[in-house]
Amino acid sequence: MNRNPSRSDNLIHQFDTVLRTLVPHAAQASRPSPASPEVHDDPMDEEERRHAAGLMRINHTGEVCAQALYQGQGLTAKLPDVRGQMEASARDEIDHLAWCDERLEELHDRPSLLNPLFYAASFGIGAVAGAVGDRMSLGFLAATEQQVGRHLEEHLVELPSADQRSRAVLRQMAIDEAQHAQLALEAGGARFPAPVKFGMRLMAKVMSGSVYRV
Ligand SMILES: [Fe+2]
Ligand SMILES: [Fe+2]
Repeated sequence: MNRNPSRSDNLIHQFDTVLRTLVPHAAQASRPSPASPEVHDDPMDEEERRHAAGLMRINHTGEVCAQALYQGQGLTAKLPDVRGQMEASARDEIDHLAWCDERLEELHDRPSLLNPLFYAASFGIGAVAGAVGDRMSLGFLAATEQQVGRHLEEHLVELPSADQRSRAVLRQMAIDEAQHAQLALEAGGARFPAPVKFGMRLMAKVMSGSVYRV
């Protein structure tokens, strides 16, 4: 039987996304983690392990924010042809979330306790951008993806040299995020002026600074 999803179906779907994002180990990746069994770490001391976990916690929270942004974008999108493309990007983000979660567990650590807060904030921002229109919400997605990409490049350098498994995850994420940014721009996303991007960088700094430890 073919039917359009009702309001309550949609509400259940949205709630399911929130749970899968915020409950540890609930996200299911559709692709195997790039940290495959063939990728081996060298031994790390406690300080290195803590540093690697702090960086991976930042990346995990970044993916929590991505879930919220794509969810907000999906709820407000008006152009049906854009929706399909953005849903494909959102599926990649679920992989990223699950991979970071797995890696944190391997490092005997946990995701950030602040995730619900960042999820709510990102959802709010996504919904406001979406209310303004597709051009704004796609532009915001593109700018965020570009910023995440820059973070990933920095983390690839900052990670302890022994940590090859986190590196494998971040390398694939960087490839995916660059493609997501491109897709959002091609779908009609606005290119944001430098002051807006500066504000976004400042917000990202606040997020990374707190999540590294908490
Ligand atoms: Fe991602
Ligand atoms: Fe992305």
